[in-house]
Amino acid sequence: MAGWVDLHVHYLPGIDDGPGTFGETLAMLRLAYDSGSRVMVATPHLYSFVAESLRPEDVRKAFERARDDLLVAAGEPEHAFLREMSFHEGAENQLGTELLEDLERERAVTLDGTRNILVELSPFLPFESIHRALERIAGWGYVPVLAHVERYPTLVEQPELLGGLLGLGCVAQVNADSVAGANGRRTARQALRLLQDGAATVIASDGHDVEHRPPDLQVAAAALASDVSATRISEWLTEAPGRLLR
Ligand SMILES: [Fe+2]
Repeated sequence: MAGWVDLHVHYLPGIDDGPGTFGETLAMLRLAYDSGSRVMVATPHLYSFVAESLRPEDVRKAFERARDDLLVAAGEPEHAFLREMSFHEGAENQLGTELLEDLERERAVTLDGTRNILVELSPFLPFESIHRALERIAGWGYVPVLAHVERYPTLVEQPELLGGLLGLGCVAQVNADSVAGANGRRTARQALRLLQDGAATVIASDGHDVEHRPPDLQVAAAALASDVSATRISEWLTEAPGRLLR
């Protein structure tokens, strides 16, 4: 089995625009398991209009509750697959003054308590502000992991700008469904180019539900199979995201 590491997935119930109930969480995790994922980092939106009033402590509490509930569910024969999966705390942190404040005070939600942190860029921030903010974050000793870089035309069309962010120590992530063509052939080509150029080094699902945005990493592996080696696919889906949890 594949053993993918999904670094960016919304599976905590009732906290953002992911699953509404714990039953939906279980259905998402079943789908992720069937697609080969074994390590699941919960990354609910923080500092975003999607979940405006959430604070880091709310995310931590919601994660702990879900982890406890999953432990109980894993004891039931129909959910025995959960025993082969591991669950980790994280958040998709929208870049802005609130995130900077929480990082400076060492209370932001990082990837599994490491110094690596998933950051979502706001399309409304000018590039200079993004660069300055990420420079400060890197200066505090964090590694910003940039969520779905293929979705930012500025970064895709001007590789030197993305290169500047990578030069600060940032890591770039692309979404599995973009690689697989769900967001158009152009985006799929751009995502593949980012990976092949070595600009993007991690593929994650950014899954939100079972139907429209499923936590399915196998679709990316299948789409890439004709263009790149199994070793590189495994690097993007297992090794690179795994290293960011250590
Ligand atoms: Fe996301």
